[in-house]
Amino acid sequence: MKAVKGTRDILPPASHVWNQVEERVRQVFRTFNYQEIRTPIFEETALFARGVGAETDIVSKEMYTFDDHGDSLTLRPENTAGVMRAYIEHRLDQRPGIQKLFYLGPMFRRERPQKGRYRQFYQIGAEAIGVDSPVVDAEMIELVDTLLKACGVEGARLLINSVGDPASRKAYVDELRTRLAGVKDQLSPDNARRAETNPLRVLDSKEAKDEPIIATLPSIHEFLNDAAKKHFADVCRYLDDRGIPYEVNPRLVRGLDYYTHTTFEFLHGALGAQNAICGGGRYNGLAETIGSKLPAPGVGFSIGEDRLIMAVEDSFSEPGLDVYLAPLDEPSFRHCALLAKEMRGHGLSVELAAPTKPRRAMELADKLKARTAVMVGDNELNAGLYAVKTMATGTQESLTREQLLARIL
Ligand code: HAM
Repeated sequence: MKAVKGTRDILPPASHVWNQVEERVRQVFRTFNYQEIRTPIFEETALFARGVGAETDIVSKEMYTFDDHGDSLTLRPENTAGVMRAYIEHRLDQRPGIQKLFYLGPMFRRERPQKGRYRQFYQIGAEAIGVDSPVVDAEMIELVDTLLKACGVEGARLLINSVGDPASRKAYVDELRTRLAGVKDQLSPDNARRAETNPLRVLDSKEAKDEPIIATLPSIHEFLNDAAKKHFADVCRYLDDRGIPYEVNPRLVRGLDYYTHTTFEFLHGALGAQNAICGGGRYNGLAETIGSKLPAPGVGFSIGEDRLIMAVEDSFSEPGLDVYLAPLDEPSFRHCALLAKEMRGHGLSVELAAPTKPRRAMELADKLKARTAVMVGDNELNAGLYAVKTMATGTQESLTREQLLARIL
């Protein structure tokens, strides 16, 4: 048997990099006062159909949907809708202040697998719900910038845009629909369909053939009303204050329907075709779309953890083993078991080997990249001394228990 297409096993030592990245990320979230939310891996299909939008690629062709005795359920393709569902269900609006939530975990999309694109992939994301202010958008972008740098990602490009409030956006979509209707038969089949169902999606299509037509379409900035213009200008100003460089890209409309006002993406050069390392934006109408009576404006992002790790993997060292304990016979093995317990109590990583010959023990200590190997046999036990080898230099010494502990701690 093999892992299903588009899924993969994360084995050591790569899993060590994942853990270190997640540790760093949790620390950064704490410094921005974000708290973790864990939502279910599957939800009612309607949550995504309404929240993300029935005409998006995600909902129309990429979801893992199944029938559960008459209920239609879906493996989450993203987590913003799930977090908003939880926010509404648990009345988090009644808690003090803005709700700042982060999550880590797997998402599922039935996309064509390739480097950096999987059917089960992982996101590191955050959502700030309760306030419609450009202040929060800018801090959210700063948070991504800080997270990427804390994990060692340098040189990511930040693209930002505004898709306006629902009124400006609708005016723009109507205009696109009209303009695209005239050139429909020159478009690729996918874009010809989108030109009717969801014209915004034509803008982020990757069809090279349609590029010349797309280039003639108007910019959404011509359709933003004053409130939307001000929101966007404020976000840009707050980014300037923070010294965070960005490029305004009027074509950045993002592949999910819930966005209003700010949208943004971070791209990274080392990733090849799948170069979006993070996507996000504001979603002021999502709560109402999924059935809330109360508005709950929010803004958030998701970093593709698989892609983040691809970008930084080489800069992480392997975990390494502190001590390889090599007993040469049964009595020494029993002695070593207690020694191992004491060392582990001090937080050291210890491999306690089964009794074996000295040469074999040293070979394994070397292969396991132990920092120190300790050999214990009859002689050592009688003399109260351990044969200690520092693997990097090859030096061997006889040390008492106290000396040994002092050396390796
Ligand atoms: P998204 O742009 O669909 O946004 O996904 C965010 C990131 O997830 C992408 O930039 C990419 O790094 C990663 N990603 C997406 N699909 C795959 C895949 N098949 N394989 C590997 N990585 C992938 C969202 O999901 C929104 N929920 C972001 C958001 C949060 N907006 C507001 N709050």
